Amino acid sequence: MPGLFITLEGGDGAGKTTQSKLLVEWLQAAGHTVVVTREPGGTDLGVELREIVLHRRGAMEPRAEALIYAADRAHHIATVVRPALERGDIVVQDRYIDSSEAYQGAGRVLGAEEVRELSLWAAQGLMPDVTVLLDLDPTDGRKRLDSARTRYDRLEAEKHDFHTRVRQAFLERAAKEPERILVMDAAGDMSEIAAAIRERIQNHLPHPA
Ligand code: TMP
Repeated sequence: MPGLFITLEGGDGAGKTTQSKLLVEWLQAAGHTVVVTREPGGTDLGVELREIVLHRRGAMEPRAEALIYAADRAHHIATVVRPALERGDIVVQDRYIDSSEAYQGAGRVLGAEEVRELSLWAAQGLMPDVTVLLDLDPTDGRKRLDSARTRYDRLEAEKHDFHTRVRQAFLERAAKEPERILVMDAAGDMSEIAAAIRERIQNHLPHPA
């Protein structure tokens, strides 16, 4: 496909929103058409699924949770992301397959490979061209969230061990795919991280930005 698919991944509070904003501003200033989106919640259906999976009260079976994320993904990729990539746009997306592998596969202990297969099926095999992993100690992530939030979603509210498994799984995936995944220390300087991300993306752009 002619477009470029960029995803941002990392634990809660790692600064994905800030880095996404800086990256999108830079791409747009260089004249690229950018579609900014996220999972869960990148479509009307996704907004409803996001509310259910993040804020529904009461217990939810982990496999049910994994399937809701997969349902959101199936609809989002087919109706938003693929059409954008076919047009030649740049898609900058907050969270994708690696989040399912980390949160449901490792966090919920459903198994990384099984959850990955489910996601790939949902997305009909679509993988990002570049993924930025903002790596942060979950304790630091929690401190950042504490200063910004009044309520936590179902995943954020999980215990420290859960978030440690999530972080580990992200790093393991990054070690398996170093060409796709750029790992950044999210505790570092915000503008230095942004510059390193730009440098990596630069090589993938259709025209020099
Ligand atoms: P965020 O959009 O505010 O980052 O939050 C979405 C939450 O959903 C976050 O805690 C990570 C979680 N999540 C999963 O558990 N699995 C997934 O596949 C995705 C996309 C997100």
